Amino acid sequence: MEAGFVGIDLGTSSVKLILMDETGHIERTVSKEYPLSFPKPGWSEQSPYDWYTQSMAGLKELIAGFEDKVKGISFGGQMHGLVVLDEKDEVIRPAILWNDGRTTKECEYLNNTIGRDVISAETGNIAFAGFTAPKLLWMKENEPDLFAKIVKIMLPKDYLAYRLSGVHATDVSDASGMLLFDVKNRDWSDKMCEICSVKKEWLAKIFESYEVIGNIKEDVAAELGVSKDVKIIAGAGDNAAAAIGTGTVGNGDCNISLGTSGTIFISSDTYSVDDKNALHSFAHANGKFHLMGCMLSAASCNQWWMGDILKDKDFAAAQAGITELGKNHVYFLPYLMGERSPHNDADARAAFVGMSMDSTREDMLQAIYEGVAFGIRDSFEVAKASGIKIDRTKICGGGAKSPLWRRIMANVLNISVDSIESEEGPALGGAMLAAVGCGYFASVEEAASKIVKVIGTVEPEAELAALYEERYKTFKKIYPALKAIYKEL
Ligand code: XUL
Repeated sequence: MEAGFVGIDLGTSSVKLILMDETGHIERTVSKEYPLSFPKPGWSEQSPYDWYTQSMAGLKELIAGFEDKVKGISFGGQMHGLVVLDEKDEVIRPAILWNDGRTTKECEYLNNTIGRDVISAETGNIAFAGFTAPKLLWMKENEPDLFAKIVKIMLPKDYLAYRLSGVHATDVSDASGMLLFDVKNRDWSDKMCEICSVKKEWLAKIFESYEVIGNIKEDVAAELGVSKDVKIIAGAGDNAAAAIGTGTVGNGDCNISLGTSGTIFISSDTYSVDDKNALHSFAHANGKFHLMGCMLSAASCNQWWMGDILKDKDFAAAQAGITELGKNHVYFLPYLMGERSPHNDADARAAFVGMSMDSTREDMLQAIYEGVAFGIRDSFEVAKASGIKIDRTKICGGGAKSPLWRRIMANVLNISVDSIESEEGPALGGAMLAAVGCGYFASVEEAASKIVKVIGTVEPEAELAALYEERYKTFKKIYPALKAIYKEL
């Protein structure tokens, strides 16, 4: 190895780190977990100190023996989380995460009182519970003493970059999800800051994802045993980073991520907004733009069902019991944390529908895989309705490791699904951004074309896709039928 590039994927259940060399070869991967807390139903918080401690522990393991090779470090990070620091750079309260649903009232204020048109014209998006700005309004109303202490606000991966470099920076893709950012012009929106009582000096300096924000701090370099010339590169929100890691950089290219969240990501050379703002319109990590639909619970539904409910960790054995696709009478609505795209309903909850005495454990598990695929299809339909033609997609994230889930996805969407050699989407994307920032590739596109390899494709099967088409029609009717009940719950 001549040069080493570290990609840190600061996820919701764990931090995943990879060490990549200058040819794109992945030398080592490390993962470290940290707790996630749900202090009230629909709330979701994490400690930024845990992120830092576990990332540093992971970094030491990752680069052991290669310390002198490390040239750059970059990130893919869980998006939208609110990290607030006081004048001593201490964290004021736990971070409020992307899948936290406490801001229904604040979103209604932004979308209805201020108005969707105003917000969309300023930012390219409307307010969704989970976005950063509504959380600031929530803090102002509910925790005024803590709100009064704010000196800096930052996103999860930017907190890590700040601890490593001392530079208060963010990148355009992650900033896009704050609802304080003018996506079209890649700059903060003065008007949104005013609406949300945000002082401009609280905000980070904006970088493109592949730009160097500074050098590693000397004390951190000494602790890690690396050179103080190591560069810290801005990085990207985890979905944009995953798109880089799967080579989703051309106009119209699509990537699906089945992680804690489920996303469908469409890369675009130009800025655009769909007429209902059902898809997020964000900046991409390659200097361009993207559209995205985000489900709040995807592979996490599988974790919840298998781990928390059934207490069964043998995912492969459980999947092997599923033998017949397209005929399941059981449906699952995957809204364990409410739903973002396309329903924008923080009160929505999960549901199994359609069980009978002969329903089996396998039918229920299968319903979970299918329910997530149908949820992705909901956003896919919005993209199609706005004129975007998608006939194939890449796939990444923990759920993408399952051949069964990939097959269900290909047939529910009726498109080809390509798997990539490395499943480490956001971490690989982070390492690639680091390599671009250090000048080892001329552009993100060049890095993608040299590094990313498609290793297999699942094609849709006409008969099965037709069966799923019918089932999707039924799935679509379940949420509207339950919507009023969710309000009562
Ligand atoms: C995207 C989103 C999630 C998180 C997950 O808008 O909220 O995909 O980034 O980490």
